[in-house]
Amino acid sequence: MILLTGGAGYIGSHTATLLLNNGYDVVIADNFYNSTPDVIRFIGQITGKVFQVYNIDVTDKDALAQIFICNPIEAVIHFAGYKAIGESVQHPVKYYRNNIDSTLSLLETMNEYHVNHLIFSSSATVYGQSPIIPIPESAPTGHCINPYGWSKYFIEHILTDTANVSSNMSVVILRYFNPIGAHESGLIGERPNGVPNNLMPYITQTAAGIRNILHVFGNNYPTRDGTCVRDYIHVMDLAQGHISALEYLLGHRNHGNTEIFNLGTGKGYSVLEVIKTFELSTGIKIPFIFAPRRAGDVPECYADVKKAARLLGWSSRKTLADMCIDAWRWQEFCLKQHI
Ligand code: WQD
Repeated sequence: MILLTGGAGYIGSHTATLLLNNGYDVVIADNFYNSTPDVIRFIGQITGKVFQVYNIDVTDKDALAQIFICNPIEAVIHFAGYKAIGESVQHPVKYYRNNIDSTLSLLETMNEYHVNHLIFSSSATVYGQSPIIPIPESAPTGHCINPYGWSKYFIEHILTDTANVSSNMSVVILRYFNPIGAHESGLIGERPNGVPNNLMPYITQTAAGIRNILHVFGNNYPTRDGTCVRDYIHVMDLAQGHISALEYLLGHRNHGNTEIFNLGTGKGYSVLEVIKTFELSTGIKIPFIFAPRRAGDVPECYADVKKAARLLGWSSRKTLADMCIDAWRWQEFCLKQHI
């Protein structure tokens, strides 16, 4: 049985759906800070499967222990954590407390119940502005620019240090690039709280008429069209990456105690190219204006994905057009459901 902390969130819910459809037994622990219980209903509707859900805070060790006592947990995928960059800048203690405490509580509980396999949801933000593009896992980290990124960086080190002294613990750290899109059913997807910070939900809300116009933050970067380049990856490709990582761990194919993998497409697209692809794939015009650069943005960030292909046998398959079409279908569903 696989425990997904934060399994009702954006990446977690898509991974839960794919795990269930691949015959895995899943249990979810989520406090619904970044989600709502109807996501659980939709996962059940998509998969036709029944699974346990615990509405708990992962920092609550007693509540967490109950999950390990009542379920034969074989591995944990740790999604739970706050992830809004702007919020992390405004409330750093809240971010460090929650993201690090939940990880420490999880590690102590896993140790107590002899569960030795852990996959961690990390982020390419730990690279900062990498001097090496495309970015390999060996690129320097620790040049984070916000408490959210630093919390991921600190947790990576907590996991590595813990695995190094645990005789049979194995950890996989997955560094996500830019997850976008939604499950093809249109029933689950990204649910930003308030005004979206990220590009794709802002584009789909502009397409839906919820936002009047998209502000493109900077058009004078040293890139092919002056706008920032990112490695956008379909959330379902990302979910598949977690299954490949799980098979790698459960199959004892890992060499060291901790292994780090980039989950990206290896291709970079500019903001203008994303807008263009969205318009061509949905037939919807996106009004935009150029605005000043956003603090903290780096000109280019896209992955070297050779290691995941070599060791996990995983690579992304969906195109940017697939991501735009699936993101729009989810937005249309949200409009109908008044989400
Ligand atoms: C992409 C590009 C913006 C909004 C962040 C986190 C990363 C990960 C993904 C969690 C940038 C531009 C955006 C808008 C714009 N999250 N943009 N107008 O900043 O690359 O990555 O989200 O793991 O950790 O750092 O993603 O979607 O915010 O921005 O022009 O209204 O779109 O300037 O160039 P980002 P993003």
